[in-house]
Amino acid sequence: MLVYLSRSPDDTLVEHLTGCGWHVSIARTSAECARVIRPDVPYAGIVDLSRYTARELGMLETGLRQPLVGWVALASADRLDEPDVRRLIRSYCFDYVKLPASPPSVDYLLGHAFGMVSLTDLDLATGVASAGDDEMVGTCEAMQQLFRTIRKIANTDAAVFIAGESGTGKELTAVAIHERSPRRKEPFVAINCGAIPHHLLQSELFGYERGAFTGANQRKIGRVEAANGGTLFLDEIGDLPLESQASLLRFLQEGKIERLGGRESVSVNVRVISATHVDLEGAMRDGRFRADLFHRLCVLRIDEPPLRARGKDIEILAHHVLHKFKTDSARKIRGFAPSAIEAMHKYGWPGNVRELINRVRRAIVMAEGKLINAEDLDLAQFTDQETMTLAQAREAAEKRAIEAALLRHRHRLNEAAIDLGISRVTLYRLMGSHGLRDPAASEEKLNETDDAGAAPASREGKTATE
Ligand SMILES: Nc1ncnc2c1ncn2[C@@H]1O[C@H](COP(=O)(O)OP(=O)(O)OP(=O)(O)O)[C@@H](O)[C@H]1O
Ligand SMILES: [Mg+2]
Repeated sequence: MLVYLSRSPDDTLVEHLTGCGWHVSIARTSAECARVIRPDVPYAGIVDLSRYTARELGMLETGLRQPLVGWVALASADRLDEPDVRRLIRSYCFDYVKLPASPPSVDYLLGHAFGMVSLTDLDLATGVASAGDDEMVGTCEAMQQLFRTIRKIANTDAAVFIAGESGTGKELTAVAIHERSPRRKEPFVAINCGAIPHHLLQSELFGYERGAFTGANQRKIGRVEAANGGTLFLDEIGDLPLESQASLLRFLQEGKIERLGGRESVSVNVRVISATHVDLEGAMRDGRFRADLFHRLCVLRIDEPPLRARGKDIEILAHHVLHKFKTDSARKIRGFAPSAIEAMHKYGWPGNVRELINRVRRAIVMAEGKLINAEDLDLAQFTDQETMTLAQAREAAEKRAIEAALLRHRHRLNEAAIDLGISRVTLYRLMGSHGLRDPAASEEKLNETDDAGAAPASREGKTATE
């Protein structure tokens, strides 16, 4: 399959490509490109940059971001001097050919580009790790590098430390390592060091003997011992209190634990993986984390790339989530509108993959059209593409003004209403229609001085000015 993106397609080239056995789809714009290709199969792509004016180049970006198209650019020598042309080639294309192009070189590059996306596709389809139905998606260089690292690391027993922002997939990576390791049939035990109260941590980690303390009616095996033979995942290791750091270090050095109140030590054989989203180097400088423990934990290190650095993967992940959860909506949702794609690339994703999953799931439920747009993702301010009608824009502006007034006056309706130049009753009604009413609180506020029932039914107009 091949897609040919050009303002004025060259018939001779199309004939040549068809002759070579390509099934050629032609598109003149990004939108057309999205329409003519199937999103789930790999394509080779030709984009003839020389056929677009400098102003039109920006609009090609959405088309070039199609995840499963391997693009080869055509450009004349003089156009290659333009910064925009160079940037598009650098960001989205496998290679480029200077016009006039010799058919054999184009053929060669197309075969190569197609081969590369097909490989990508294969990785996508198989996923690197599947824990249940949780596969790990990633095609960008940083993620491919991560997958290679996971494969290498899985075969060793050395301690692994995973650093990365919240929601980047640290736990998924830990599971992936376990599942590819010789220990895969043994337990994978995860402990969230931040979630267990300090005073329980020791007994949770190492267990206790009967009679160790009041209420210890029988022996309890700790999580470290429960992981024997398998993998112990110490999540949020940065939150481990110093006291537990000391006992963990002792365990790592000796390979033995002692249950609370017990006299014998028990040998435990586990592979330790730890993770944190806090800056452990900083914690060590401040004396909150022991450097000797860190060196034990961090024999091998993995840095999880943040979502905003994963390029096309953002879209691939979004489609993946859409595919997985589309049955949450009775409506048939086909994909993402260009505004959504643009916003997803511009937004910074502080919550990374977890945030992307949440936003897409919410959008699946909220979307009114067949395509999810930037507004459904609650990312409308990250797109320049005007998808709002004027009525929607007015409504959004009205809501913003009301929110700001309420905030300025700490939800005192009288003052906010004066600021907005409307009556208190109208403000109350508008708050209702914009979903800004905190049911219990504002009802009381209104009833203090005003009679809510006094709002005449005929005031249901759209305008806020009276
Ligand atoms: N590459 C990926 N492909 C598919 N799903 C992913 C990927 N990375 C993360 N996820 C999903 O994103 C969510 C968050 O991942 P995970 O819990 O592993 O992140 P984390 O780094 O441990 O986050 P935190 O720091 O908040 O604990 C999970 O639902 C996980 O399945
Ligand atoms: Mg986690």
